[in-house]
Amino acid sequence: MPSLQVNFAGIKSPNPFWLASAPPTNSGYQIMKAFDAGWGGAVWKTLGVPIVNVSSRYGSVNYRDTRMMGFNNIELISDRPLKDNLREITEVKKRFPDHAVIASLMVQSRKEWHQIVQDVTNAGADGIELNFGCPHGMCERGMGSAVGQEPEVLKTIVGWVMEVATIPVITKLTPNITDITQPAIAAAEAGSDAISLINTIQSIVGVDIDDFVPYPKVGGLSTNGGYCGPAVKPIALNMLKNCAQHPGVNIPISGIGGIENWRDAVEFMLLGASTVQVCTAVMHYGFGIIREMVAGLENYMEEKGFASVEDFVGKAVPKVVHWEDLNLRYKVVASIDANKCIGCQLCYTACEDGAHQAIGLAVAPDRKPHIIEENCVGCNLCSLVCPVENCITMQRLDDGSATESWKQRTDANMIPTTFDDSRAGGLHHTLPDPGEALKVIKPKHYGIR
Ligand SMILES: Cc1cc2nc3c(=O)[nH]c(=O)nc-3n(C[C@H](O)[C@H](O)[C@H](O)COP(=O)(O)O)c2cc1C
Ligand code: SF4
Ligand code: SF4
Repeated sequence: MPSLQVNFAGIKSPNPFWLASAPPTNSGYQIMKAFDAGWGGAVWKTLGVPIVNVSSRYGSVNYRDTRMMGFNNIELISDRPLKDNLREITEVKKRFPDHAVIASLMVQSRKEWHQIVQDVTNAGADGIELNFGCPHGMCERGMGSAVGQEPEVLKTIVGWVMEVATIPVITKLTPNITDITQPAIAAAEAGSDAISLINTIQSIVGVDIDDFVPYPKVGGLSTNGGYCGPAVKPIALNMLKNCAQHPGVNIPISGIGGIENWRDAVEFMLLGASTVQVCTAVMHYGFGIIREMVAGLENYMEEKGFASVEDFVGKAVPKVVHWEDLNLRYKVVASIDANKCIGCQLCYTACEDGAHQAIGLAVAPDRKPHIIEENCVGCNLCSLVCPVENCITMQRLDDGSATESWKQRTDANMIPTTFDDSRAGGLHHTLPDPGEALKVIKPKHYGIR
């Protein structure tokens, strides 16, 4: 049986699955329940200065049949008294000494930072997470993302924390910035033991078109909130990759953003996260999702022959290169499996109107389309819209013997400089005349047979 145990920058945890700092970690009651269900760690709902919350405070993007595909909130940090949270941290650690309890913190002055770091350390927290990510409310008071967006300020504050910290410090970054590696490097330079990302993305999830008020509504008004949930996963993965690849970062990373199941978690780990944190999925489905996550990860590791989590963390990082290093000679075209095709013609419409007119229609009764290979650029679109699993697959045409990247071409002074240069792309595609669009579909032109 593989071991799921992790040692994240000195913080030990029975598995890499942590709850992110958010409503599910608002109290000792919830965190004990979560640990009992199988979660390995929890980042406590951010502790700091007294605040007042508004109601309502959440909004969501429901996409077709999926509720909360994207989730948005305008809530602030913990509104519970600090002394209650500190007492409960101690209680949780007493009951679960081997689980990871991380205190998320957000205050303003150097003196306040020193005090709260000492308070949570005395309470028994295993680590500290600095919340430089909250993109609403707190940033207007100079905290949260206001710090995360200014690497120099972030560096100063991490420095204040490191002056007194005796337990590992994780700096949590905001995605509301052009280059996430800048604050990540600043955190590393200031001595932070690790980073975590992402916090929520500034957003407005929708507008009520009857009363003209965006969501969530607070007495006829609204404000921008923080976006999270499955919708943000691709953005989080990219930012994670940027940090994992940058030599100036080089400290452990805890991955956050849209993680819902073990597969999502493995993807984050392959791109460099040594632990993962979950918020929205737990708010949606509850602590019980951890059972499938642990079992799924164990099965995956067993199948792949990984004895420990370190065996595969970062394995996908070298596979992400710059565009200019991709092989221009690699060539795929779409292929339709007529036995699987149900004749819905979604692929035809997509390729005809949104791609390269490389799918022809068959005559009735089977309505099954076929690929016009000479027009197919291998873009994938038809295989993405096809509702039947593995009905459209991409078949490799080149034999793999030749590789040539844009960089190699540039270095060899072999880049096309005019559109009729034989080395230019797009020369050999057959395109209909524009006027054909306004005529009745011509069987010959559309490859109908
Ligand atoms: C309602 C809500 C409250 C949150 N509060 C905090 C917080 O107090 N501190 C913090 O660092 N992040 C907070 N977050 C951000 C989450 O910890 C996490 O970074 C983000 O939701 C992305 O993860 P997810 O896609 O799994 O939700 C909050 C998120 C939500 C939805
Ligand atoms: S891969 Fe792209 S170009 Fe080729 S048939 Fe499919 S949609 Fe058309
Ligand atoms: S989308 Fe798939 S199932 Fe539908 S017609 Fe095209 S190949 Fe057949």
